[in-house]
Amino acid sequence: MRCILGKDSHAEDATHETGERLLADEEGTLWSRKKTAAPTCTSVATGLFQASALVLVFLIGTLFGLHWPGDLNSLCSRHVSQYSTVMKEVGLQYSLRQFNGSLLKENVFRQDAGADVDAAWESLGVNYRSVRIPPEDAEQSGLAADQVKINAKYGGGFPANVEGLHHLHCLNLLRQSLYYNYDYYHAKGEGPFMNNDYIIRRHVSHCLDIIRQELMCTVDTGVLGQVWIYPENPEPYVDFNTQHRCKNFDDVRRWAEENQLPQDPPADFLEPPSEGDRIYSQMP
Ligand SMILES: *[C@@H]1O[C@H](CO)[C@@H](O)[C@H](O)[C@H]1NC(C)=O
Repeated sequence: MRCILGKDSHAEDATHETGERLLADEEGTLWSRKKTAAPTCTSVATGLFQASALVLVFLIGTLFGLHWPGDLNSLCSRHVSQYSTVMKEVGLQYSLRQFNGSLLKENVFRQDAGADVDAAWESLGVNYRSVRIPPEDAEQSGLAADQVKINAKYGGGFPANVEGLHHLHCLNLLRQSLYYNYDYYHAKGEGPFMNNDYIIRRHVSHCLDIIRQELMCTVDTGVLGQVWIYPENPEPYVDFNTQHRCKNFDDVRRWAEENQLPQDPPADFLEPPSEGDRIYSQMP
């Protein structure tokens, strides 16, 4: 590469070139003239500077990318899920899990009505009490300022339930209401079965519809393949034991368990509605 050092000759060259370029432009021969132009020291230095800046930006980007995988989970969760105190405090993680899709081999959650299956569902947190959402998180968590609040003398904030645990509560009610389980739970008359038959029925169909909306909202775009069964006379069979990328359910459950509001709250635990707060005339 040839370097033109003279300052004056450089300036002259530039004006000279501008004049020629205009002419050349009209003749359409701009590029043939440019090819022979010698690079100046400034242009070489600028080129080198730009190249090293690019490399530097690339290296910094790579370093950030490699050191931020933890935050990527939180960043992605916040982008695709409703924000809440739960998300902030638990720290969502994702890991591969294999579903158990057995048709005939029953696990504890599928057993006929009884103490074992009830204890299994109970351990998932289906009957936990509400948690407290601090006022500063309320709006971002989808809670309006005029929703039910805890009295300031008991710490303030908003009583709320974790959605995912409500869904499991609902699925548990559907299980209890299966035609072969219903009589058992109806006779026991505990929890939702303390209500009259009209309310039980509406509670069950409410639960069914909440689960429908949740499944549609988070529609699983994974696929079910097929496997061969019966070596003597092979038949295709749907493989329900598929891999899924799952959130850390147990951490969410533990957080909800540890943050339950008191079991026997005082009579003035909730703050009465203030002037102007919305009060519905019937159940929404
Ligand atoms: C599913 O669960 C049943 C009952 O616990 C068990 O026998 C079976 O091996 C499990 N299947 C898979 C694929 O994990």
